[in-house]
Amino acid sequence: MISIYTPAQNTADAKMKPFIDALMKKMTLDEKIGQLNLPGSGDIITGQASNSDIGKKIKEGKVGGLFNIKSLEKIRAVQKVAVEESRLKIPMLFGMDVIHGYETVFPIPLGLSCTWDMKAIERSARIAAQEASADGINWTFSPMVDIARDPRWGRIAEGSGEDAYLGSQIAKAMVHGYQGDDLTKNNTIMSCVKHYALYGAAEAGRDYGTTDMSHQRMYNEYFPPYKAAVDASVGSVMASFNEIDGVPATANKWLLTDVLRKQWGFKGFLVTDYTGINEMINHGIGDLQTVSARALMAGIDMDMVGEGILTTTKKSLAEGKVTLKQIDDACRRILEAKYKLGLFDDPYKYCDDNRAKTEIFTNENRKAAREIAAQSFVLLKNQGDILPLKKTGTIALIGPLADNKENMPGTWSVAAKFDKATSLLAGLTEVVGDKVKILTARGSNLDEDSLFEERAGMFGKSLKRDRRPSNIILQEALNIAKQSDVIVAALGESAEMTGESSSRSNIEIPQAQKDLLKALLKTGKPVVLVLFTGRPLALKWENENVPAILNVWFGGSEAGYAIADVLFGDVNPSGKLSTTFPQNVGQVPIFYNHKNTGRPLDEGQWFQKFHSNYLDVSNDPVYPFGYGLSYTIFNYGEIKLSNPSLKGNQTLTASIKVTNNGKYDGAEVVQLYIRDLVGSVTRPVKELKGFQKILLKAGETKTVSFTITPEDLKFYNYDLKYGWEPGEFQIMIGGNSRDVKMEKLNWSK
Ligand code: BGC
Repeated sequence: MISIYTPAQNTADAKMKPFIDALMKKMTLDEKIGQLNLPGSGDIITGQASNSDIGKKIKEGKVGGLFNIKSLEKIRAVQKVAVEESRLKIPMLFGMDVIHGYETVFPIPLGLSCTWDMKAIERSARIAAQEASADGINWTFSPMVDIARDPRWGRIAEGSGEDAYLGSQIAKAMVHGYQGDDLTKNNTIMSCVKHYALYGAAEAGRDYGTTDMSHQRMYNEYFPPYKAAVDASVGSVMASFNEIDGVPATANKWLLTDVLRKQWGFKGFLVTDYTGINEMINHGIGDLQTVSARALMAGIDMDMVGEGILTTTKKSLAEGKVTLKQIDDACRRILEAKYKLGLFDDPYKYCDDNRAKTEIFTNENRKAAREIAAQSFVLLKNQGDILPLKKTGTIALIGPLADNKENMPGTWSVAAKFDKATSLLAGLTEVVGDKVKILTARGSNLDEDSLFEERAGMFGKSLKRDRRPSNIILQEALNIAKQSDVIVAALGESAEMTGESSSRSNIEIPQAQKDLLKALLKTGKPVVLVLFTGRPLALKWENENVPAILNVWFGGSEAGYAIADVLFGDVNPSGKLSTTFPQNVGQVPIFYNHKNTGRPLDEGQWFQKFHSNYLDVSNDPVYPFGYGLSYTIFNYGEIKLSNPSLKGNQTLTASIKVTNNGKYDGAEVVQLYIRDLVGSVTRPVKELKGFQKILLKAGETKTVSFTITPEDLKFYNYDLKYGWEPGEFQIMIGGNSRDVKMEKLNWSK
């Protein structure tokens, strides 16, 4: 499919090279190495930047940028030290993890990806950039585009799920949202795509774990989103913590230089992840001097936090372990980034008090966040049309996440003001006013194990554990449940049960909450499960027993309102899963675009001896990739191909009629999958190759057409050559990856 984005116009002008040549001529070796250093913001106290330890280093020319420093006042003070008190007055980069919004927080990236709405995703990044830049930030460590097929891995929450095609579209949209068309503007910031590469494929889903896969799988299934970000002119790339082919990414020359720079033509700079260089000592490839030299020689330009490059490079140069050219190249790329951002023209261009006061957490931004959050929710089940709820009667809102603001923004919301987030209780109350009586109770803690709950509530996102005996907490909930017409159970994970260093070996709703859910179902009242989660959970039991399930991820600062909008039908849900929901953890990794194997199951069978399956569970997920219900019903006609037999560079049009046969207007994500039936190497059983999100009024029919060219048939073959092979193909279109209509065609060369 053709990209809707033109690459950001951030290739610098002709004046950049002479400017940087002249500057570098003046630089000492120490000053060049200093540019490669990215410490944390450390001890800076407002009003004392110049005298802080970091301030001293900046004056000595030993710092290229700082990260995760929040407050315009501090940033201005630090920049002042750099441009007034250091010898060459080189301005600094200020980076931050602006991952899914700044103070206005959007859904966690996994949730955002379920909107399948590239304009909305780009808009969220644009607003994030607008707010962050108004507060002095000029560089964000986003997007995170690691393909993840393992819900045990906590950082699955930070990415766009399991699919390379969808992930690539989102990577482009995010980069474009942050960088815009012109990086010299004061409201665009430099993007940093991460974590290059394969960080999401950690063994056993354990964070920072080893990855090991074939190059063919890397190129076809894991690399495309990073490459898409590079094609969209992303300004920087972050290396990942994991090893690849036995060499940590941070020192992997093949990955950083041969693939990224030589094959893909990346022109920006490469930063390590947090202490990524130092950690290579533990990986077992050398002492600090060795690993720093290896990182630099592999292609790293900037060292986050660990100061290995700062402290050992001079010695390495003297000993011939690094070259001056490599130091110069790295320094040049950092200076180029500063130049492209316009910092040499005006180091204070992001320091405008008025913008900081008027452009952050505005009503307009919050409105966008509310709309986008509502689009990210996925209706997993709605038996008997329990949803939408009526705006009358009594609702019992029960669960540890029913009245909690802190957890709504979700993981990696470092700039969020938790007290300004909206809880579900507050959102519901405001949306229905006094038309509905809302009773509320906790019902249970997040989990019986208080130490687990502590680990799952880090970074100030407390769940305010109720210390009373669990039967008392439950009884209170059952009492209000009895007085209600419907129960809304707000259960699931806390925000920090996903994100960095938050892997789980059990991917079910914690037992205490499952027990609560069972007790609520026993009351005989209708139960709606509003599920908070940052990963696909194993919901086999819930799917079989709970009549309605709305997956709301972590919806951001406006989550409470957005959930209310959907529960009461002011917004019809349209989210579709970007990752498969397994039946149990034993099926992991489970993903829709797997290979067929030599012994697939026969159609309609779930177990056959000597076939590829399990004794105890079918191969099917609970909810497949692309799945999500609506309050209305969409019916698909048959696929019409413009031509069932194509040749060479011809273009195919595949069309299908989609009808809204229900009572509500709604949006549907129409998905195109292709299967290449015979190849020189084995090919997946289907691959997403296009999608369109359409709006259909109740009763309306629209014809949706996809244009397909040989470009859409290309893959990396055994020799890693990118191209397409002639033969038979299946074209599949549907509302999720499982329920599709199919036509066959032949495409010859
Ligand atoms: C994470 C990165 C993040 C960095 C800076 C690391 O621990 O892996 O994603 O950008 O910290 O906060």
